Amino acid sequence: MPNTPILDVKPPQKVRVDLAGRGYDIWIGRHLTAFAAGHIAALNPNGRVAVITDETVASLHAKTLNAALLEHGLTVSTCILPSGEGSKSYAMLKHVCEALIEAKIERGDLVVTLGGGVMGDLAGFAAAIVRRGVRFVQLPTTLLSQVDSSVGGKTGINSPQGKNLIGAFHQPSLVVADIAYLDTLSPREFRAGYAEVIKYGLINDAAFFAWCEAQWRDVFAKGAACTTAIAQSCLAKAAVVMRDEFETGDRALLNLGHTFGHAFERLVRYDTARLVHGEAVAIGLALAFQFSHFLGLCTPDMPLRVIAHLKTVGLPTRIQDIPNFSASVEDIVEAMLQDKKVQRGVLTFILAQDIGQSFVAKGIEIDKVRQFLSGVLEA
Ligand SMILES: NC(=O)c1ccc[n+]([C@@H]2O[C@H](COP(=O)([O-])OP(=O)(O)OC[C@H]3O[C@@H](n4cnc5c(N)ncnc54)[C@H](O)[C@@H]3O)[C@@H](O)[C@H]2O)c1
Ligand SMILES: [Zn+2]
Repeated sequence: MPNTPILDVKPPQKVRVDLAGRGYDIWIGRHLTAFAAGHIAALNPNGRVAVITDETVASLHAKTLNAALLEHGLTVSTCILPSGEGSKSYAMLKHVCEALIEAKIERGDLVVTLGGGVMGDLAGFAAAIVRRGVRFVQLPTTLLSQVDSSVGGKTGINSPQGKNLIGAFHQPSLVVADIAYLDTLSPREFRAGYAEVIKYGLINDAAFFAWCEAQWRDVFAKGAACTTAIAQSCLAKAAVVMRDEFETGDRALLNLGHTFGHAFERLVRYDTARLVHGEAVAIGLALAFQFSHFLGLCTPDMPLRVIAHLKTVGLPTRIQDIPNFSASVEDIVEAMLQDKKVQRGVLTFILAQDIGQSFVAKGIEIDKVRQFLSGVLEA
């Protein structure tokens, strides 16, 4: 028997995001560092690359990536930022922009984001504005960023008034999702990302939701099913982005579970010790289906089925699952009204008639929401 571990090297799967003049490939597989470096070098032969990463990811994965990039003849600079949502700030944006200019990154060069959604959003935004737009590559390292934030071109930072309020649409030139990165991710962060995976099934793909119910153990074991789940999620997101790149229409479907979810994140003041985004989405998905039933749009077994699967994988499903949460109905409604997707005080929800049959419901009466939430909080 050989002493060195045998790498599980299967050809990566490709998902194409076709956008006129801005199309790109997403590659999904395991052990793709050398593969990614080769593709980055092909985009910018012998050029400069600035790797933007956070402290946690840098300590685990940056050395290997940098070595692979150097091996491909690229000139590499690295910018390491604090881990966590706090880095999506004006201060860190300034820091990254100036680091890119210092590193002499020109329009033809590449910014490479190595990290979760925080690094992708921040560095992608810096790439959008430095020299009026530098190309960038996403190497997402969390499940959430592999299935959601690295695809679609939304980049940005937070302002004191709210999340993601400052930003730009800037599509990456390449995305490589290496599931080997997920081996070092905490089980809690992995589970949270999984809420976004099943969201795609709940939006418009009942067969994918059923597949998740049957295959989730293999997905969590990060084997071939994990690659399939990520590829399927990217395919679903790519399809929506290709139809509605700038969110003027049904890209909003991707917010299933998010109107409630964002309110809870705001109410815990983005304290990730209590609630991370994917957990808020999990509770939001359960509530979106319960609310759909409350409005007479779907049968009661729909929310029960959604809740059963979320519980099976260990995700929270109830407002009461949030530690030390004491908000009233009014607090929750108030937090929902601050969401940027609210237009002129009228609430827009993504509701469902069935699993895989979600739709954008505009003008939902706030009183209905109040009645529903009162029942939920009393239960
Ligand atoms: N642009 C979009 O379309 C979009 C979509 C969804 C979410 N987002 C944004 O994404 C952000 C959340 O992304 P996230 O959940 O990836 O958070 P994150 O980037 O903060 O990562 C979560 C934590 O995991 C750590 N980490 C990352 N990769 C790791 C790895 N491989 N091993 C060990 N630790 C690792 C990070 O250091 C961090 O502490 C939010 O800011 C959200 O607004 C953007
Ligand atoms: Zn989300």
